Amino acid sequence: MAIKYSPTVIEHFTNPQNVGEVENADAEATEGSPACGDMLTFTLRVNPETHVIEDVRFRSYGCASNISTASMATVLAKGSTVEEVKRFNAKTIAEKLGGLPSTKMHCSVLAVNALKSAIKQWEIKHGLAEEEEIQCNETTIKKLLKHVINPATGQNIVNSEMINYIKIDNAKVFVEIYLGDTDDMYAENIREEVTETLETMKCLDEVVVRILDRRKTEIKEDNGNH
Ligand code: FES
Repeated sequence: MAIKYSPTVIEHFTNPQNVGEVENADAEATEGSPACGDMLTFTLRVNPETHVIEDVRFRSYGCASNISTASMATVLAKGSTVEEVKRFNAKTIAEKLGGLPSTKMHCSVLAVNALKSAIKQWEIKHGLAEEEEIQCNETTIKKLLKHVINPATGQNIVNSEMINYIKIDNAKVFVEIYLGDTDDMYAENIREEVTETLETMKCLDEVVVRILDRRKTEIKEDNGNH
């Protein structure tokens, strides 16, 4: 089935704003999506006195939704302060674009996270923030899993209360996810996103994801061996 995009998404995809790199940028960040493997880089220049973003540009190796969200994010960020941009989220930017298909929400999450990472780099450089030390605990895992979007609803799996439990045993983590009303067809996509997201944690050697369907029966991993 063809994906239907809003006119604003199509406008930003066919005519993206602020593409490229900022000359003499004072911060840069690249983020990749665990869901699709695409990448996005933002560069920016900030006025050190006012904290206003004077210039911001992006390069995307992502899809139409990703390019459109990144483009819209730069339009909104230019002229805003660092503090204002830190309050951006994927949902509000998607709304500015006239909405995104729920299966494409992870693309806008990638765009917003990459922009916020560039802001964080700027703050670290200017002594306004510290490099975060990743703690191997449930709180960090939940924070990371907020980047995993349920394609059926466009909401992240933590706020949708789909996480049944998280158990860390040395360098191994077990995560159980309850699909509830979500169709089983999304199980493998969610399993893959959770696994790849948690594999970015250097303190973990193994990630085991168990998915339960609406009758609380385990959906076994589909290895694609049909
Ligand atoms: Fe990869 Fe959209 S599918 S960014």
